[in-house]
Parts: sequence; C-alpha cells; structure tokens
Amino acid sequence: MLKDFFIALSQNQFLNSSAKKYGLKLGAQSVVAGTNIPEVMKSIKELNSHGISCTVDNLGEFVFKKEEATAAKENILKVIEAINENKVDAHISLKPTQLGLDIDFDFALSNVKEVVDKASRYDMFVNIDMEDSSHLETTLNLLDKLSAEYDNVGTVLQSYFRNTQEYLEKYRNLRIRLVKGAYKEPEEIAYLDKKDIDENYIKLTEWHLLNGKFTSIATHDHRIINHIKEFVKKNDISKDKFEFQMLYGFRRELQLQLASEGYNFCTYVPFGNDWYGYFMRRLAERPQNLKIVGKQVFNKKTNTMIGMAAGAFLLGRASKKKKRK
Ligand code: FDA
Repeated sequence: MLKDFFIALSQNQFLNSSAKKYGLKLGAQSVVAGTNIPEVMKSIKELNSHGISCTVDNLGEFVFKKEEATAAKENILKVIEAINENKVDAHISLKPTQLGLDIDFDFALSNVKEVVDKASRYDMFVNIDMEDSSHLETTLNLLDKLSAEYDNVGTVLQSYFRNTQEYLEKYRNLRIRLVKGAYKEPEEIAYLDKKDIDENYIKLTEWHLLNGKFTSIATHDHRIINHIKEFVKKNDISKDKFEFQMLYGFRRELQLQLASEGYNFCTYVPFGNDWYGYFMRRLAERPQNLKIVGKQVFNKKTNTMIGMAAGAFLLGRASKKKKRK
C-alpha cells in the first residue's frame, strides 16, 4: 500500500507544481544534485574524482505545452555545453515526455534529435530513459529513428515487463541500461512479484552481457551485483563491455567500492527544481528511503502537502472499495 501511495503522489500534478515553488525539500537535496547547472557540475566533479562517470538528468515531468518542452531541450543543450566546457566525464539521460512525447511525436523527435546531434559532436552518449508502458512503443519508435542516424544513442529496458527479452534481442547492438522498472504496471503485461522481476533481471542481464554491445547494470541490489560479478568472471567478460549504475545519493559506499575494484561505474545524477515525481518514485521503491528524509518531512508546508495527498489517496481507495462492493 505504501508503494501505491508514493506512486500516486508521484503522479499528482498539483503537488508537483507546488513542490517546484518550495525548492529542494523533504530531504530531496540528498538525492538531487542541485537545482542549476553549476551545482550539478560541482557534484559531477566530486564523483569523477573517485573514478565515477555520470549520466545527467535535467528533471522534468508533466510537460504538455510546447514552450515547456522547448525550454527543457534548451536546458539540456546547455548541460551538454557545460559538460564539454568543464571537461567532466558525463553524458545525458533524458525523458522523452519532457521533450514533448505527450504533445506530438514529430515535435518530440525533432527535440531529441537536436540533443543527440549536439552530443554527437562532442562524442557524448545520450540515453533515452524509459517511462511507463503507455510510452514504451513511442519511445522505441524515437529510438529506431535516431539510432538509424546516430551511434551515440541507447535506451533502458525494464525487467518487470514479461516481453522484455524480445526488445533486448532487437536492440542487442545498442548500449542498453537494464533496470527493474519504477512505474505501476498491470499484471497482464508485467511481473508484480519481486522474485519474478529479479529472476528476469538476472536472465536479461546475463543474456545482454553475452550477446549485447554494452550493458549498463542499473541496480542497488547487492545480491544481483555480486551474482553478476561472479558471472562475468566465469564467462571471461571484459570489464569494458559493461558498467554498474546507481542513482545519486544511494549506497554511496557501494558505489565507491565498485569503482575502486576497477569496475566501470556511472552515477545517475538528477538536478533541477522539478524533483518531486522523481523523489516520490524513489520512496515508492524503497520506503526505508524515508530515513534519508529524516526530520525534514516534518515542517509545516510539506506536512500540509503530504497530509492533503494522503487524504486524497485514502479517499480514492475507499471509493474504489465501495464501487467494488
Ligand atoms: P530494489 O529496490 O529491488 O532493492 C533490492 C535490494 O537491494 C533491497 O532489498 C536492499 O537489500 C537493497 N537496496 C536497494 N536500495 C538500497 C539502498 N538505497 N540502500 C541499501 N540497500 C538497498 N526505472 C525506470 O522505469 N526507467 C528508467 O529509465 C530508470 N532508470 C534508472 C537508472 C538508474 C541508474 C537506476 C539505478 C535505476 C533506474 N530506474 C529506472 C529505477 C529502477 O527501475 C528501480 O525502480 C530501482 O533501481 C529500484 O530497484 P533496485 O534494483 O535498485 O533495487
């Protein structure tokens, strides 16, 4: 229920726009690397100093207006310039809906293409993040068009979907990030049981390590990481064929340890004032992350926000139950 609660919060547009006004709150500053480009560059330099590369996400959700998508694109272009000027080891991750996928496919395509094109001039990779199942096909259509023209683009595949192996085979020649999946999906298309999702994650990762171009193993799960370390050793898979990835602010000790053991390691570094949805999805994945929120939850403004959302969520559940009866 807690998971559903935080997913519902992540989808609440009112709370999203309210949160933007308050700056980094609720403890989000421990998992979001600042609100502007100079702040994120500082965080990247610090991670680079430990041999960790970064993938930068200019946070943004609920984009339904062309002006907003265009502004997001301009900001990402500035990030690419800043990565180049600061000579940091980093590339771009972007969400297609932020660049207009919910507005118009061709408009989104031209925005993402501009980003990929600019990045390609600096030999920089662009990862197209994967959102929920309603965007899967259109995101892959974007990828098909872009990867036909550019070789610095790849995407994310989620192990909670039952048919991900098909996509993995189709995109075996691209750099692929494998994740478990962060959205709420129906049982018909997705595994809901953690054991099934984990088993599929291992199966897909092993397959891609043996058959794919380059695998980004994006998980905080030490059991899976240890399993993969053994697997690559046993199968003599070279370290330059894969990397481990984790999110900024999570399991920092393990991030540093893997980098110091000589594995390629990449931290996903989100920044910006549109942190709310990202942060709520992190709480949905692991409510224990509330520990990092600590006392900061308990201030007046955020208490009101959370209180209102909890009320709306519980009312929603109650009325659903009533209807079912
Ligand atoms: P999971 O939450 O399954 O936890 C497994 C175990 O790991 C836990 O039981 C615990 O033992 C340990 N653990 C996990 N987190 C811990 C912590 N913070 N501290 C201590 N122990 C911890 N999703 C998506 O749908 N689209 C996308 O594009 C992306 N992109 C993305 C990039 C990167 C770099 C990452 C790491 C993740 C994503 N995700 C994503 C999110 C992903 O789908 C998934 O929801 C989360 O990574 C949570 O799953 P995990 O495999 O990390 O651990």
